[in-house]
Amino acid sequence: MQPNESVKSDFNSTASSGSQFRVLVGVTGSVAALKLPLLVARLLELPGVDVQVVATDHATHFFSPEEIPVRIYSDKDEWQMWKRRSDPVLHIELRRWADLLVIAPLDANTLGKIASGICDNLLTCVVRAWDLTRPLVFCPAMNTAMWQHPITAKQVAVLKEFGYVEVPCIAKKLVCGDEGKGAMAEVSTIIDVVKEYLPRPSVSSQITDTKDSVLGTA
Ligand SMILES: Cc1cc2nc3c(=O)[nH]c(=O)nc-3n(C[C@H](O)[C@H](O)[C@H](O)COP(=O)(O)O)c2cc1C
Repeated sequence: MQPNESVKSDFNSTASSGSQFRVLVGVTGSVAALKLPLLVARLLELPGVDVQVVATDHATHFFSPEEIPVRIYSDKDEWQMWKRRSDPVLHIELRRWADLLVIAPLDANTLGKIASGICDNLLTCVVRAWDLTRPLVFCPAMNTAMWQHPITAKQVAVLKEFGYVEVPCIAKKLVCGDEGKGAMAEVSTIIDVVKEYLPRPSVSSQITDTKDSVLGTA
């Protein structure tokens, strides 16, 4: 199978799973990308959740694909997929596919790019084309000095004006040795925020569940 065919077949296979809630994880070049395997594992534990990942090139330094049991897209996939007019454009396919985008971690570089509309890689193209009626959750992560720079608060405010949801960073001893605010929120906190957007079970399925448990079949 050609590389672009495998990408297309991922979308075909997910297109039939209409009951799934599709979470796209964006990951950028912060050391907090070390937590990607844990984040994906926790997301996959949520009932009815399907997950795919878009990684920037720098993000790929912090995890190995073998640790992640879902499809990971990178910039080269965008260009391998498109050969001729009839081919899908990956960043548009991904924004169509996703019910929710969570960018964890969001580093200072991609924060700045998103705030100013720059779209020079797969992840920032997905964000630039994002359907603003769908939730976009972002989890900043950077060195304390970067976090404290006045441009950070301005850029975070711009993202919030778009309706994007911040999962605030936390204070702790950072991997670089500095201590203070700038660490990505705990994975459990991010999962709690994602859970708020999961579809509530319909009344009819709740009745069925109750009947099943009364009949002892649940
Ligand atoms: C080991 C290492 C750790 C880094 N951690 C962070 C970080 O936590 N936050 C951040 O904003 N930048 C961090 N950077 C810098 C980013 O990787 C750099 O700005 C890069 O251009 C980001 O590219 P991207 O936004 O396309 O992923 C780190 C760089 C290195 C080498």
